[in-house]
Amino acid sequence: MDVLHGDSTGFSAAEVTAMGAALSAAALGPRGANPLVGAVILAADGTPLVTGYHRGAGTAHAEADAVNQAVAAGMNLSGATIVVTLEPCNHTGLTGPCAQAIIDAGITDVIYAVDDPHDPAAGGAGTLRSAGVRVRSGLAADAALALNRRWFDAVAAGRPFVTLHIAQTLDSRIAASDGTSQWISSPESLADNHALRGRIDAILVGTQTVLVDDPRLTARNAAGETAGKQPLRAVMGHRAIPADAAIHGDDGNVLHLATHDPSEALDQLFDAGVRHLMVEGGSRILSAFLGAGFVDELIVYLAPTLLGSGTPALDDLGIGTLANAQRWAWDQASGGAVQVLGRDLRLHLSPEFTPTAGAGRAETASRAAAVTGTTAADATGTDAVTATIFDSIPHRPGAATAPGGY
Ligand SMILES: NC(=O)c1ccc[n+]([C@@H]2O[C@H](COP(=O)([O-])OP(=O)(O)OC[C@H]3O[C@@H](n4cnc5c(N)ncnc54)[C@H](OP(=O)(O)O)[C@@H]3O)[C@@H](O)[C@H]2O)c1
Repeated sequence: MDVLHGDSTGFSAAEVTAMGAALSAAALGPRGANPLVGAVILAADGTPLVTGYHRGAGTAHAEADAVNQAVAAGMNLSGATIVVTLEPCNHTGLTGPCAQAIIDAGITDVIYAVDDPHDPAAGGAGTLRSAGVRVRSGLAADAALALNRRWFDAVAAGRPFVTLHIAQTLDSRIAASDGTSQWISSPESLADNHALRGRIDAILVGTQTVLVDDPRLTARNAAGETAGKQPLRAVMGHRAIPADAAIHGDDGNVLHLATHDPSEALDQLFDAGVRHLMVEGGSRILSAFLGAGFVDELIVYLAPTLLGSGTPALDDLGIGTLANAQRWAWDQASGGAVQVLGRDLRLHLSPEFTPTAGAGRAETASRAAAVTGTTAADATGTDAVTATIFDSIPHRPGAATAPGGY
């Protein structure tokens, strides 16, 4: 990944190259409750030793992954430098604090791209400095922010990260005219979807899908058995969920969201501890979330099948002219923009970024200072880029820490 678009003043060529490798490694992880993060450890002479990355909530953070690999290989990390795409964390979530792991490993230099928005006042950088570790930040900040832009948005808004999934025919149908929809997708696409179900915190459908399809919405293996972590099953709409609906399952881990407002649904899900939501359908629910701009990641399973009639994937998004079309960008992270899954294509996209016109760095810096409690003078360079993100979305005070996720 090209990191040279940003300011690399004060960093060695080896450190700049390492940050590029760390960004590339970060992109191997899955999007979701946690950011994509990569880390490279350099020997004192600048030789790269190991590369680590984060594989999703509940697994080792990138720094710990790199340190663990080095320890397993018998390396001595005294005097080493770690180059990481996000400020090392300072808290014990599902895994231990990375700042302490770095200190314990004997690493004496830390370079990171952007601050951890979970804890901007007392992040890992402070802990590292207090322990005598040299800490520098801001290298490739723009690229690091771009990599996780929608994750930063979700954290700042105090809402779950939203993945939206559509399993559709070539002519954008999600069900035939008689209501049948199982299965439009190939077994490989279904397996991919079930693997994703095993990583998310919640899966959401509309009441109509529950009434028509009676889905279980569990994560299942190839043999059809429920496997591993199961998501909360959420149903959105005013109609009651039948008492004998399959969605209740054995555990009753179901949340009925009696609303048509996606923002209200996300608030309720966030309050229930959900940090990564997958919106599964049907078309009115997909359209409500897309129309409200809440979709951070779009996965389309495209089957080479034609129906010519039936339920279209999307309802009216309220777009009357091409100039107002929603623009999406191919997302190369987390497995790439296009994968072949059996006879299907799996398309992976993120919302195209359109910077707010007229919001200059100084202006956003001072507005970010109001959000983060820092001074405008602090909010320069890296922080000004963060400021653009923090400034572009509603911020819910007190929602900055996500105990269920990172
Ligand atoms: N291929 C796939 O990936 C896939 C996935 C899921 C579903 N499907 C198919 O999709 C079809 C159902 O789609 P659908 O669009 O008819 O139903 P839907 O989106 O599943 O549910 C629509 C219902 O949700 C409630 N609702 C909640 N928020 C809403 C909002 N903002 N706008 C409108 N309604 C809202 C309303 O019910 P209340 O009256 O209860 O409020 C509405 O009738 C089924 O045939 C199913 O097989 C396909």
